[in-house]
Amino acid sequence: MASSIDVPREQWATRLGFILAAVGSAVGLGNVWRFPFAVGEEGGGAFLLVYLLFIVLIGFPAMLVEFVVGRRTQRNPVGALKRLGGGAWTYVGGIFIVTGFVILSYYSVVAGWTIRYAILGVQGGYESDLEAAEVQFGTLASGLDAIAFHAIFMAAVIAIVALGIKRGIELAVKVMVPTIIVITLGLAAYAFTLDGASEAYSYYLSPEFGVIAAEWQSILPAAAGQAFFTLSLGMGVMITYASYLGEDRNLAEDSAIIIGLDTLIAFIVGLVVFPVFFTAGVDPGEGGPGSLFVTLAAAFGDITLGWLIGAVFFATVAIAALSSAISILEVVVSYLIDEKGIDRKTATLGVGGAIFLLGIPSAMDLVLLDLFDGFADGILLVLGGLLLAVFVGWLTGNFGREELRKGIGDLGAYGDAWIWFVRIPVVLALIAALILGILGYYDFLTSMEEGEGFAWWIEENL
Ligand code: PFF
Repeated sequence: MASSIDVPREQWATRLGFILAAVGSAVGLGNVWRFPFAVGEEGGGAFLLVYLLFIVLIGFPAMLVEFVVGRRTQRNPVGALKRLGGGAWTYVGGIFIVTGFVILSYYSVVAGWTIRYAILGVQGGYESDLEAAEVQFGTLASGLDAIAFHAIFMAAVIAIVALGIKRGIELAVKVMVPTIIVITLGLAAYAFTLDGASEAYSYYLSPEFGVIAAEWQSILPAAAGQAFFTLSLGMGVMITYASYLGEDRNLAEDSAIIIGLDTLIAFIVGLVVFPVFFTAGVDPGEGGPGSLFVTLAAAFGDITLGWLIGAVFFATVAIAALSSAISILEVVVSYLIDEKGIDRKTATLGVGGAIFLLGIPSAMDLVLLDLFDGFADGILLVLGGLLLAVFVGWLTGNFGREELRKGIGDLGAYGDAWIWFVRIPVVLALIAALILGILGYYDFLTSMEEGEGFAWWIEENL
């Protein structure tokens, strides 16, 4: 089925441009605020192994699914599924657009905090006392400050996406991604010299298979969810980015590079943060935004030159978040350009403005941020990924293998192996992650826990 409005489509200028854009999208807050903490908490080297297994068995085949759909149709997610499936599948494409829209609204709020914390470092403002750091985070995370930095971040995202694929996104990631890599490596080298380094490495990496054996029911689906989030899957990003690709590209090779770099950077971030924690004598504690902005900030407040290292660290995280956020805005913008015939500048400004407004509740109250996050990341993202895997794996015959073959040549047995990975492990892992997401969201909605549960929030505020 053809899309209603056909407009000339931009393409990436270079192969490197596409790869860096996809890496830029993949490397973001997820790599910093979830990955290292999950490794530290959930069994160190043992969890790392499970995670790598998931990246290879689930993430890699699922990324190829999005790539073949995008490149074949040269369309945004809605247009792509309209062309390939038509009917109700068009609405499945719509799930991707909604997911991206909602995720970006609160992602931008958290990204705003990283800018604020970079500035806080320069001001010499990190509190070394944990309780004081918590109070400080409370004032900066919600309210006018948070809204202002959310606005600044969204303005930067809009400015880049408005310039288009080649002149906007591709140019920006060619500067941003190498910067992220070089600075993160530099910080890791610095962290190596800290007193707490060796203790930190053993906390981060010593394998504890016991933790996994005891908690595999929750760890495995969580690892699948994290693999999806960190690779920017289930948001339509990789469909959209691949839609600007020509047929001569080897999608499997490109995916392997993208996934390798994303994982490597996430791993290196752990080599930065844990030595800082252990040198300051701060317990890395629980995962989540608190660990980054409360415990880590307090650790920066404690160590020599911590203000400077902290400022550089948070600024780098802000850049990583920016190169991710542009990919999500591009999904929604490409939908409006392809399907509604709206010009890029108008679409970018309109959608960017709407996403800013949707983010305001998240910038005013952390419980509301969780309300959006649990729904978009815990449910919608997994649901979109699952439906797409079923579509390409079970319902579209040979299309996937044919598309993958372009730019590779003969796939041999790999083509079948890929489809079977999509059909069984990817689908099963996503079903498990979806169930976990729905149960978790239900718990959150009905929880009376002070400052955390939504039922509590309703009683408190309405
Ligand atoms: N892969 C991104 C990350 O790990 O942070 C996921 C992402 C989330 C990308 C939100 C873009 C975005 F706006």
